[in-house]
Amino acid sequence: KHILVLHGPNLNMLGKREPQIYGKLSLKDIDAALKERASSAGFLLSTFQSNHEGALVDCLQEAFGQVHGILINPAAFTHTSVAIRDALLLHDTPLIEVHISNIHKREAFRSHSYFSDIATGQIVGLGARGYLLALDAMMAILTDKED
Ligand code: DQA
Repeated sequence: KHILVLHGPNLNMLGKREPQIYGKLSLKDIDAALKERASSAGFLLSTFQSNHEGALVDCLQEAFGQVHGILINPAAFTHTSVAIRDALLLHDTPLIEVHISNIHKREAFRSHSYFSDIATGQIVGLGARGYLLALDAMMAILTDKED
């Protein structure tokens, strides 16, 4: 089974970007940990980061029919993007929305997400470990679906 992980804008700067909010790990560290965890459980995992909304939409279109589950941190596009929401709606797969920070305890504009009502679930505010928690949940959901 194939899990797609999408990262939105500025997440390529993790480790350097506001480390007091987003932590010290780089995106490379996070992606490597996700890939290792997925492959040791027998799952295939692909990752993609872009600062461009259309590139994220293209990636979701290309993945149509090819993936079984999607993890996404849409970053700033969380609060703005109907286009990424619509591209996710192409997929009839479980979807988990991840935020490193607790978007509900920051500026008011961050507490609205265009994805929360279409996601299977959300993990927010638990730091980079939220990605691994989301992956564990996704693998469990996909395993349950098989039985
Ligand atoms: C974020 C929260 C967003 O509000 C912000 O624009 C990000 C990262 C998070 O992971 O906490 O870039 O999605």
